[in-house]
Amino acid sequence: MVTVVYSLLVALHVVSLVFCAGPILALALVPGGLTPSAAQRLTRVAGFGLLGILLTGGAAVAMTGPAFIHTWWLRLSVLLFLVIGALTGRLRRLTRDPGSASGVRPLAWAITFALALVVYLMEGKPF
Ligand code: HEM
Repeated sequence: MVTVVYSLLVALHVVSLVFCAGPILALALVPGGLTPSAAQRLTRVAGFGLLGILLTGGAAVAMTGPAFIHTWWLRLSVLLFLVIGALTGRLRRLTRDPGSASGVRPLAWAITFALALVVYLMEGKPF
């Protein structure tokens, strides 16, 4: 039963990642053709995805107890998660300001890169 709940949590964790990374990648790929309301909607969905990642990741850590809590891959991932959260907040502000549209794509690429780094850390657990 515990393993079923745990695998469900990790699955939800990855689904949350899809809801975060998908909209961010869309913002990175579309060259300035999005309306402000579409761009704002994408960043809002990405924010919900991030919240889902945090809640499910936190619950998974709580369930595994000491197994992962002292590992450096997890510590570094949590740090990167905070950076990603701050950058997504900045992205949200940029999509609200029509004069800053040119900054959206580079920032969305930076967030995508940071997300990919965390995926590597969480999958590979290198240290
Ligand atoms: C942007 C941030 C994050 C990304 C992209 C991410 C991504 C992932 C991925 C791809 C997996 C592997 C799922 C699998 O194949 O088993 C995973 C597992 C996991 N993540 Fe995250 N995660 C993030 C943030 C967090 C945070 C903030 C926490 C904790 C507070 C966390 C805790 C965990 C735990 C405990 C596992 C399960 C490890 C295992 O059982 O092997 N994650 N994450």
